[in-house]
Amino acid sequence: MTVADLTIDPSCRAALHARSLADPDGFWLEQAQRLDWITAPTKAGDWSFAESDFHVRWFDDGVLNVSANCIDRHLATRGDQVALIWEADDPAEEPRRYTYAALHEEVCRFANVLKSRGVAKGDRVTIYMPMIPEAAFALLACARIGAVHSVVFGGFSADALAGRMEDCGSSIVITADEGRRGGKAVPLKACVDEAARIFTGIETVVVVRATGTAVAMQEGRDVWYDAVAATVSAQCDPEPMAAEDPLFILYTSGSTGKPKGVVHTTAGYLLWAALTHATVFDYRAPEVYWCAADVGWVTGHSYIVYGPLANGATTLMYEGVPNWPTASRIWEIVDRHQVATLYTAPTALRALMKEGDGYVTATSRASLRVLGSVGEPINPEAWRWYHDVVGEGRCPVMDTWWQTETGGHMITPTPGLPLKPGSATLPFFGIAPQLLDADGKTLEGAAEGNLVIAASWPGQMRGVWGDEQRHFETYFRTFPGVYTTGDGARRDADGYYWITGRVDDVINVSGHRMGTAEVESALVLHDAVAEAAVVGMPHDVKGQGIYAYVTVNADVEADAALAKTLRDWVRHEIGPIATPDAIQFAPGLPKTRSGKIMRRILRKIAEGDVSSLGDTSTLADPDVVTDLVRNRVC
Ligand code: WTA
Repeated sequence: MTVADLTIDPSCRAALHARSLADPDGFWLEQAQRLDWITAPTKAGDWSFAESDFHVRWFDDGVLNVSANCIDRHLATRGDQVALIWEADDPAEEPRRYTYAALHEEVCRFANVLKSRGVAKGDRVTIYMPMIPEAAFALLACARIGAVHSVVFGGFSADALAGRMEDCGSSIVITADEGRRGGKAVPLKACVDEAARIFTGIETVVVVRATGTAVAMQEGRDVWYDAVAATVSAQCDPEPMAAEDPLFILYTSGSTGKPKGVVHTTAGYLLWAALTHATVFDYRAPEVYWCAADVGWVTGHSYIVYGPLANGATTLMYEGVPNWPTASRIWEIVDRHQVATLYTAPTALRALMKEGDGYVTATSRASLRVLGSVGEPINPEAWRWYHDVVGEGRCPVMDTWWQTETGGHMITPTPGLPLKPGSATLPFFGIAPQLLDADGKTLEGAAEGNLVIAASWPGQMRGVWGDEQRHFETYFRTFPGVYTTGDGARRDADGYYWITGRVDDVINVSGHRMGTAEVESALVLHDAVAEAAVVGMPHDVKGQGIYAYVTVNADVEADAALAKTLRDWVRHEIGPIATPDAIQFAPGLPKTRSGKIMRRILRKIAEGDVSSLGDTSTLADPDVVTDLVRNRVC
């Protein structure tokens, strides 16, 4: 029995999972044959989560190139097949299509442009792009020459961009004149200019002409991509990379401090992205597959670019937003391109569900075969709507639980597995989840606790850029010997997992991770603010919203105008996704006598659950709570 049998006989899944854990070396060396190696590996996993000997390596003696795996190896068999379809923000604009042969040419040229600017193996290249094909070309071009890409979501601020570039020592950024989303322009180049004033180490800016708008170009630093591309060759040999050479850095929010640069390496990551994409979506080339995420998030990395292209898929990339110009847009795109697999986030589904079924039923959707969900827990109501209305009951919903750190799907259904609305179901091959209580005791059978993973898997992150210790401290300190996910979960009597959400100070806004500490730091940077505490609150569409408690400085008027100013401030400091949904001015915050803010109480108040505030007797000043409850906003 092999993984290929799974699509024919779903009952293989349990046996394959058992084998992947009992014989990881045999299982993973067999799976590794999915990739095209320059030197095939002779070993699979080599890892230890113990503090004294902490290391994670996979396929260590293998040599390969990711871009060759995603492009070159398909040329002989499917050079004329469409690799990438691009759907513009404006539905009136003609979609663009690139065959594998065309993709090869584009990526080679892009790689040569980078080389011509002095980029070499191991250099960090920042990508700050709209959702245009050149974003995918840029990722693959870096992979081709062994440069490490660091994609910064185009919705992040100049400050956030500068901070991430400085953190990984990146002196080059690829951007576009402007992006477009929902009919509005996103001034990316202007943001890069601002970032370059903050981080003076930016030496090269490669600007892709996307909308054609006029932008300022700084002589010696800024170059138009098309001008350089016209001067370079369309041939570029892929660089042989060791399995454990870094492929990319992706910054993600944690519960403390600045965002961490999560590092993924070459072979294990690619295998994980490819295997999960092939099996979870039961991908059958040349069907059209569409992941509606942004390439700025890990979902875009693994499931728009690397996984699908490694599998020789036709992957669709969409520039715009789900509800523009109308709430039918997603379904119109499905029909226009005969999409077989749609992979999106619950927040988009909830927003579209609110508009009524008419926008969906006005379209055919007959091409759909598999549906996917990612980024946050999907509530059973949204799940049913997705399954019954969008998929007309014929398409299984793959509720995929995973994280930036995990590289790809971890707990997920595969087609054919009996589904339960709201459950991510069972662990994928090689994944050994456990539930632990607060003391670290393993819970058996049906239980609820901290979700941890007991064994390494190929797609596991390999480090935090520039901070080895932070990697260990963040994921392996609280519960020794296992990887701590930061999520809570419940396991039912059938062994199915139900993710209950973050157990740390990370909030999940519209499927995007936001650290409460980041929003707090942004708020206290404002002159009017003395202190701030940020927690999550329930939100109908976003899943969670951002609720900020703010104590202003003496002599500052805490009024509606200031609340608006602070909202705009955070937007500018971090980006629109960090904008607080509610700001409550508070003369004081609930603190223990040792000065620690009691977030548990702040969370309850934000949730409107004020009848069960628990023990407040340890507070330095219990009256603070009475005031907070009285002045709750929303
Ligand atoms: C949450 C996104 C429930 C979870 C791929 C996790 C989910 C965080 C699901 C990672 C799901 C993601 N069900 N919760 N299917 N998928 N999450 O790093 O809290 O942006 O820890 O990766 O999103 O977010 P990240």
